[in-house]
Amino acid sequence: MSQARIGLVGLGVMGANLSLNIAENGFPIAVYNRTTSITDDFIASAGDLASNVVGTKSYEELVASLTTPRAIIILVKAGGPVDAVIESLTPLLDEGDMIIDAGNANFHDTRRREAALSEKGLKFFGMGVSGGEEGARHGPSIMVGGDASSYEVIRDIVEAISAKHGDTPCAAHFGPDGAGHFVKTVHNGIEYADMQMIAEVYGLLRDGAGHAPAEIGALFEQWNKGTLESYLVEITAKVLQESDPKTGQPMVDVIVDKAGQKGTGRWTAIEAITLGQSPSTIEAAVAARSWSSEKETRLAGEALFAETPAEAAPIPPVEDLEAALLAAKIIAYDQGFKLLAAASEAYEWNTDLAVAAEVWREGCIIRSALLDDMASAIREGLPHGQLLFAPRFADLVKTGVRALRRVVSYAAITGLPIPAFANALAYFDTLRQGRGTTDLVQAQRDFFGAHGFERTDGGAGHHGPWGGTTAHSAAQL
Ligand code: 6PG
Repeated sequence: MSQARIGLVGLGVMGANLSLNIAENGFPIAVYNRTTSITDDFIASAGDLASNVVGTKSYEELVASLTTPRAIIILVKAGGPVDAVIESLTPLLDEGDMIIDAGNANFHDTRRREAALSEKGLKFFGMGVSGGEEGARHGPSIMVGGDASSYEVIRDIVEAISAKHGDTPCAAHFGPDGAGHFVKTVHNGIEYADMQMIAEVYGLLRDGAGHAPAEIGALFEQWNKGTLESYLVEITAKVLQESDPKTGQPMVDVIVDKAGQKGTGRWTAIEAITLGQSPSTIEAAVAARSWSSEKETRLAGEALFAETPAEAAPIPPVEDLEAALLAAKIIAYDQGFKLLAAASEAYEWNTDLAVAAEVWREGCIIRSALLDDMASAIREGLPHGQLLFAPRFADLVKTGVRALRRVVSYAAITGLPIPAFANALAYFDTLRQGRGTTDLVQAQRDFFGAHGFERTDGGAGHHGPWGGTTAHSAAQL
């Protein structure tokens, strides 16, 4: 085989599948893994595709196998291992060569690496890849950040291996340095919110209505034929209808209710707060996972507060649950896109939100029928930057929120926690309250700290006559 068009370091599940995808699309690829036997096994099991793959046993050999400018994908564990690979590769590369981190990375690390490598004349890319093992093998959604002109060197490969929506590749360049990894981070934040809200519906039907998992799964299967059609609803339907081969019980019933998290949801929430945003559905989803791991505390709380009265109430009809899930989902996306816009502005990425929605239409974990409409709404222009204000979504949400209110009220009365739904509703109500309550917060700040406030009749920097206020008794209220 002549020189390979692209290299890849790290033949774990994602790296191996992405390599096969690249080879299958006709691009010769050179691969390297620290443990040589893994490389050998990979080539041995690549079948016909092995003719497009060259296994290498050292970084030197990897670098020597590539056409120039060289492009090398890294798919190793986030953090230190990525830095270690970069450190090994850097001295072997020439000006204009590219290193592409295709793992989930904190975009601050990506920015740091990009800046450090650019001083050496090298190009560093943060490339978010979504879709799990199956996506990596047959077409993931790909979110790229890095130098725009160097991206052209690998663009044909990236687009060829990505999922397609019709003929459109679900892959795009979103801006310099950390933009691609940030888009992937927000994707994951939305993924967290989406999963949590689906789990909350499951909880209401399980604990409020006493339905068996398979019944709830059948309902999700039904919903997946409507506006809620999405990968996550589809797999939820399957998961809930699965039985444990060992006990015959519903599979979910033998799974401990502690959810793991590798960090991307948390990064989304942290960055949002830093940027003055409040993606409250994502925050709720991250918090729910954190609480889930405190199983002992929750069991103690259950015993301690068992007697705390929660009233009985009839669960809202399933049509309400479906409409509430749709409304809350749109609210979560509104929050995600708003965060993306804020980051793009802060870091001067010029990220196209409509393209993000388009890239998420296929291949990734949050793919859904709604994303096509979202992309169109964004292209038409979002009033005040809010997806919720776009006419097609405003109408959907107006109806859905009525159901969301009934669902959140039911959960509050009966004592079932649905934090993502409740936060979605609070966010919506905050957005539709022209006069909020922070006039009082401003007064309090001025009272204790002379921070000043803006008057409704004009002018900033005013102070209140706090010393001379007349005391009103509570009874007068
Ligand atoms: C994807 C997924 C993928 C992975 C998450 C899981 O887009 O393909 O998001 O990146 O499944 O990292 O994240 P948690 O372990 O945090 O749930």
